[in-house]
Amino acid sequence: CGIVGLVGEIVVSDLIEGLEKLEYRGYDSAGVAFLRDSSLCVEKNKGRVASLKEKLSELLNERITLGIAHTRWATHGEPNDINAHPHTDCQSKLCVVHNGIIENFKELKKRLEEVGHRFVSDTDTEVIPHLIEEYYTTDLVEAVRKAVKLLEGSFAIAVIHVDHPDIIVGTRKGSPLILTVGNGVAGIASDVTPLLKYSKDMVFLEDGDIFCVSKGGFEVFDVVGRKKERKPTHIDWTYETAQKSGYKHYMLKEIFEEPSCVAATLSGRIKSAKVHLPEIEELQDLLASSKTLKVVACGTSSYAALSFKYFLENLSDVCVDVEVSSEFRYKRPNFDENTVLVAVSQSGETADTLESVRLAKSKGAKVLAITNVVGSTLMRESDHTLLLNAGPEISVAATKSYVTQLVLLYLLGLKIVELRDQWNERCTKLIDSLLRLPEVLDATLSRAEHIKEVALKYKDFQHFMYIGRGLGYPTALEGALKLKEISYIHATAYPAGELKHGPIALLGPEFPVFAIAPFDALYAKMKNNMIECKARKTKLVVLTSDDCEDVREIADDVLSVNSFSEQLYPVLMAPVIQLFAYYIADALGHDPDKPKNLAKSVTVE
Ligand code: G6P
Repeated sequence: CGIVGLVGEIVVSDLIEGLEKLEYRGYDSAGVAFLRDSSLCVEKNKGRVASLKEKLSELLNERITLGIAHTRWATHGEPNDINAHPHTDCQSKLCVVHNGIIENFKELKKRLEEVGHRFVSDTDTEVIPHLIEEYYTTDLVEAVRKAVKLLEGSFAIAVIHVDHPDIIVGTRKGSPLILTVGNGVAGIASDVTPLLKYSKDMVFLEDGDIFCVSKGGFEVFDVVGRKKERKPTHIDWTYETAQKSGYKHYMLKEIFEEPSCVAATLSGRIKSAKVHLPEIEELQDLLASSKTLKVVACGTSSYAALSFKYFLENLSDVCVDVEVSSEFRYKRPNFDENTVLVAVSQSGETADTLESVRLAKSKGAKVLAITNVVGSTLMRESDHTLLLNAGPEISVAATKSYVTQLVLLYLLGLKIVELRDQWNERCTKLIDSLLRLPEVLDATLSRAEHIKEVALKYKDFQHFMYIGRGLGYPTALEGALKLKEISYIHATAYPAGELKHGPIALLGPEFPVFAIAPFDALYAKMKNNMIECKARKTKLVVLTSDDCEDVREIADDVLSVNSFSEQLYPVLMAPVIQLFAYYIADALGHDPDKPKNLAKSVTVE
């Protein structure tokens, strides 16, 4: 989501203009709130900022002293007019916009309802204005500070109150928020883009900061009310650069967001070292008893699904059938009301996946959607949904959605293992490793310069063969897909053991091999395959783990990730295959965000 707040000499359209700049952060609904004749004026709707602007057309040039605005990417509650932000308290005296997730909103809502608060939306956000109302006497900063203490999760929040026509108060924890003062206006926003026209000196607020901003300046406090010093940073970004947070392309930005997206996917889903997925409570009996689980998906999502198959089959007795949706939907449906079909789709709009879901439902199967888009057709037509919470993915090539799909599917896998009473020590260790993923992914990303150096050596080849075994195989498939879709280099992927059954005939000095070979149980076998490739005089890039020592003897180039739980290498290695493809595409002069002939979501058959 994107939030913006302005105080000072402004007109209503300044808020709308700010929102337009943040729309890439979410675009399923939009809203504003400002003070007019000492009362709150709130306007919000499902859909784009443009329709909000149209609704407000009469008021756009009206002078106001302050306002807050929001463009939404739903996480709790489908996109509709009521769930759109801002949200208000019972008396409509204060208004809140929020970016992030309040994990404990159900408990808070219950407590607030017990003391008489009435809620109108399905959002987690709505607890915030009610909590602030509960604590408010005369001091808004104090009320926000008290309310924030009770919130769990990640958030950036901005609040206005009718009794305080010249301040915006708010806070951040885990979600970005930037503040600036200049040209008779002070502003806060989720990124610098709406603020650039006022000043280029930005205060990047830190976790736990509680701010109070007025036309003339700002103050920052910590959660116990102590004043904090925050110095502005001067930035020289243009609007274009700022929108991509300084990255050259959305794809690069989205790859670098992966650690925080994974943290959002995990957020609230691990409790007492077990997986907590209340969304699938009604499926528990079926998941505990079914021998097989069906999974459908397309493109990158289908490779995340294939990783899930290896992961779950390795830990349990479930047989996971993964099929691309465009095949599944035309086959004889050999399933019934005892089947669970998992449909994986970033967009939730892919036509073949939707048709597969409809077919499954017509036979009585129960459908569980894994998607990134609240209110998508897939979510609406499925019985249950697990959300990625990765935020909007703008680049056509899937990156952060793939990584978060892997994480969410692994959580689902562990839940199934638990439900089937097959939990063991390995599972407990995996939980621990999952929680460490954001930090270890950061370590992978810190190696981006080296990945770039290696990638550039290979940019002029016409072909690439990706190989892997076990969980390395779906990673190889995704590596080849990323390379071909954005660099247009012909790339193919095989299970390494299949090389000798045909593909090895292609190999030679002009046909390099990219081997996914972490130091895991299958490494010795992979090593044999890599030696076979070298015997054909191919160039060999090996993506391995830091504990693998002897790979340097055979590889021309080594890319490596931290040594980690074997089952989680697909997650750790994802940024490497993505960056490898990205740097090649960029060096060849292609726009990785908009590859030719491809669409972000394919809504036709
Ligand atoms: C398109 C995109 C791919 C994506 C696939 C499935 O082909 O270009 O990046 O993996 O659709 O999309 P979905 O939204 O269903 O995951």
